[in-house]
Formats: sequence, C-alpha cells, structure tokens
Amino acid sequence: MKNILIATEKPFAPVAAEQMTDIFKEAGFTVSLLEKYTSGDELLSAVENVHALIVRSDKITSEVISAAPHLDIIVRAGAGYDNIDLVAASSKNIVVMNTPGQNSNAVAELAFGLMIYMARGLFSGKPGTELRGKTLGILAYGHVGSMVAAIGKGFGMEVYAYDPFIPDGQIKQDGVIPVAAMEGLFDKSQYLSLHIPATDETRKSINFTLLNRLPQGATLVNTARKEVIDEDGLLKMFEEREDFRYVSDIAPDCAPAIAEKYSGRFYFTPKKMGAQTAEANINAGVAAARQIVNFFNNGDTTFQVNK
Ligand code: 3PG
Repeated sequence: MKNILIATEKPFAPVAAEQMTDIFKEAGFTVSLLEKYTSGDELLSAVENVHALIVRSDKITSEVISAAPHLDIIVRAGAGYDNIDLVAASSKNIVVMNTPGQNSNAVAELAFGLMIYMARGLFSGKPGTELRGKTLGILAYGHVGSMVAAIGKGFGMEVYAYDPFIPDGQIKQDGVIPVAAMEGLFDKSQYLSLHIPATDETRKSINFTLLNRLPQGATLVNTARKEVIDEDGLLKMFEEREDFRYVSDIAPDCAPAIAEKYSGRFYFTPKKMGAQTAEANINAGVAAARQIVNFFNNGDTTFQVNK
C-alpha cells in the first residue's frame, strides 16, 4: 500500500483534486491532501509516512526530504522545479519529475491578459494602445513560449524568438522569426515576454544592459520567475527610462520601491496566477497522479528531472 500526499499551499481546483484522488484510489493507494498550509512544520509532519508527494511551487527543501524517510518520488505538478532541492532528493534516491506542457496554455493566456492590461493603461479610462502591429519577443521557445508566439500571431503581432536550444527551422515553421542573439531580441521587442526557467545560468540574467536595449515604450512581461530579473537593474531601468513598463505574474522583491515612485507603469499579481485555472490544474494534477501510478506499477521514470 502506497501513501500519497498532495501538498499545495496554493490548492488545486476541487475538480482537479477529485480526479487525482480517484486515480490513486483506483490504483489501491491511499491519498491525503494538505492545502493552504501556513507553516513549514505542517508540511514536515505531513510527509512523515508518505511514499509519493505531489506539489506545485511548494518549497521542498533538504529538511522536508529528511523528514520523509519513506519517500520514493516527488512530482512537481507543473513546469519549473526550482522549488525542489534536487541534490538532497538524489542523495536519498528519490525520483523527481515535473509535468511539462500541462499548464502552459494557462500561463500563455495570462501573458496576454497582462499585456492588454498594460496596453490599456491598467483599465484606468485613459486611451491606450493595441497589440496588433506591435513586435513581440519571446525569450525561450519552449511549451509556454511557443504558445505565446501562436497567440501573438493571432493578435496580428510581429513575433520574434530567441532560444539557443531550438533549431531556427522549428521556430520558422510556426511563422516566428528566430533571432541569433539575446541582445537582438531585446532590440526588437515592444513587448518582451520571458519564458526562461530559474537556473544558476539565468538567475539575475535580465539586467539593465539588456533592458536598456528595449525600444521606446516597451513592456517587459514576466510569467516565468521573479528570480531571473536583476532587480537593481530593473530599478535603474524604471528610473532612467520613463517609457518603460513592467508586468509580472508575482511581485519582485523591490515592488514597494517601484510602487512608491512609478505608479501606472507596472502591475504585479498578488499571488502567482499563471497556472491557476481549473483546466491547468486538471491537466497537471492528473498527469502527476498518473506518473506516480506508472512509476510504482511499471517503474516508468519518464519526465524524471534528476537523472
Ligand atoms: C510552473 O512552473 O508550472 C508554473 O510557474 C506554475 O506554478 P504553480 O503550480 O505554483 O501555479
């Protein structure tokens, strides 16, 4: 008998949690839910007897892993797994997986919600601008980036992408213009949409030098991670470029400093909302549940990220 814990500080839609529970019950596993927990201690005691753990952006530190002596697998129901201590997990032979692509459409749609909100002056009643005919730069052409590109084309935008890991031909097939260097993407983009993960290479990589290449009136759109932004550079950009706007799915640490001086030029969601739709929750949650059942029943390690 396997014990499964679904631990989500930001809960799944009830319909998603129900479908996940059904999958585990059908497989003969027991399942418990820890939702909206407010302290790390609650998570530490909840993992004590579990064999599998499903999380979202919940922080799975080495302390959590040490508190879970029976844990065999952690599945991050979503894309980015920067919230999981992979070294600690690997040292205990715990398999870590994500569910790539499952919540991408929700994030891509939110990117446009944020762009329109900025283009229309935060719905303040003042005249705004339209997206049609504007240039859109996509930084990283993965699951989300390629969906943002497709939606941008639907809006009549001129779409550019930079991704050193994707062949130009694949980007061109989608009617998107590949750009050879990251700097070139910033030069072109009236809207610059970030889709890079937070890694040692990308943390603080979006700095003033890059941002200052953006054309007049540009908007930076961040539905990726706040950690990829160099916040000193961001503040400098706000200060030196009055035309610059920033919209992000979750506030940067320097949000109070921005709010104090640059009203009307930014918007930050109060909680990460990109993947917070019933559909994305069902897609990612059900995929996570199936991956766990497949792992225990068939030894399937597809989507393992700590190989
Ligand atoms: C992801 O990496 O999948 C997204 O950032 C969504 O994160 P969430 O599950 O915390 O909403």
